[in-house]
Amino acid sequence: MQGFATATVYEGPLAEVPPDGLRKIWLWAALIAVGGFLFGFDTGVISGALLYIKTDFGLNSFEQSSVVSVLVLGAMAGALGSGRIADRIGRRRILGLEGLVFLIGTVIAVLSTGYPMLVVGRLVLGLAVGGASATVPVYLSEISPKEIRGRTLTLNQLLITVGILIAYLTNLAFSGAGDWRAMIGVGAVPALVIVAASLWVLPESAAWLAARGRRDEARRLVASVTNGATADRLLDRYERDRSRRDDGRTGWRTLLGADVRPALVVGLTLAAVQQFGGINTIIYYAPTIIQESGLTASNSIVYSIAIGVINLVMTLVAIRVIDRSGRRPLLLFSLGAMTVMLALLGLSFVAGWSSGLSLVCMVLYIAGYAVGTGPVFWTLIGEVFPPRARAAGSGASTAVNWLANFVVSLVFLPIAGAIGQGETFWIFAVIAALGWVFVGRFVPETKERDFTEVDADLRSRFGRRAPAGTG
Ligand code: BGC
Repeated sequence: MQGFATATVYEGPLAEVPPDGLRKIWLWAALIAVGGFLFGFDTGVISGALLYIKTDFGLNSFEQSSVVSVLVLGAMAGALGSGRIADRIGRRRILGLEGLVFLIGTVIAVLSTGYPMLVVGRLVLGLAVGGASATVPVYLSEISPKEIRGRTLTLNQLLITVGILIAYLTNLAFSGAGDWRAMIGVGAVPALVIVAASLWVLPESAAWLAARGRRDEARRLVASVTNGATADRLLDRYERDRSRRDDGRTGWRTLLGADVRPALVVGLTLAAVQQFGGINTIIYYAPTIIQESGLTASNSIVYSIAIGVINLVMTLVAIRVIDRSGRRPLLLFSLGAMTVMLALLGLSFVAGWSSGLSLVCMVLYIAGYAVGTGPVFWTLIGEVFPPRARAAGSGASTAVNWLANFVVSLVFLPIAGAIGQGETFWIFAVIAALGWVFVGRFVPETKERDFTEVDADLRSRFGRRAPAGTG
């Protein structure tokens, strides 16, 4: 088995897509990416809500941290479970289902009468967020022409950062009244958008339809954004590729094939590097860290909003350049910048520089992350896996991302307490540097490539030869 089947909703040259078709694809992409918003919103909202929940319910510190981390555990389970269900019921239905589960979780959390009910609500929210975070890259990849795939996939990260920022603003808006139920309740709006979009606007992915033998529907869909002749040509090619390469494995078992292993190594390692580079210590604990550097706590919400804005603005920069520069240069630049800024941030604490300088290092670190390591991980997990292993591969990479997120957010404060905050940032610096080496050696360029070309690049990087008689 060599190479990968190539069909997505449309994967021919962009020139064959009429402006109308392109507009439709961007609309679909924007709606699918609202799944990323749920992720970002829940990441950001709880820090503010918790301040009031803890007094309302009288939570001790273990109860407080469990309200935060139970979502991450649910997300891991959601990411692991969603690939299988997505392969069975389709990309459109699973996303709608995740929106619905999110609504249910929101209702439970908002109406909580005490700690146990709140934990259940957060767990349900986690299932939805984790599921959506694994579904969105796959779905986006399968509806995008390859020339704009980098941009449509980066929309996911953009909406994650928008979600974080809106959450910070929501916290600010309701903090006067201390209304944590309203803070969490705002999340129902994007969830409703997703449910409605999946019911009335979004198409199923053509790759999924064709794989289920529903050729007529797949053809109609591709033809609706291109034309009949292109649709026939793409579906013929897809069926040829499939019959040549389908080894009969489904679900998780697709990940066991030797041909999928290099992509899996790339997906899982990037997931770990993204989180162990320390991003969420800043996203979750910025106020605490800022206070440590000597600035007053009362300004901390304002600083965290500034960090949210930088995060969003630099993701916009990534969207502008990703389809021109390619994925590798962005990732290498980003990990290089993160390494330097983390080293300096660590030094600023150890050497006792002024708090302003620490803050500058922190902001430049976030900028470096947001222009590459943030978005490119989510882009690549939609691109490196062969179509038949894409849902499972994206699910596994996403689950490892959540697991690493969980570990870092759990151990950061204790480790910083034990060895010092500056020294802890140096550990993150070493990990970012190792990530840089890994990307240089093993991560393929996916820009404007179909899966056969991505596969060939992966093979040469991992020193594998294509089996005789193929490709
Ligand atoms: C990461 C999140 C992080 C966010 C920050 C995402 O790509 O997966 O864990 O909070 O970026 O923007």
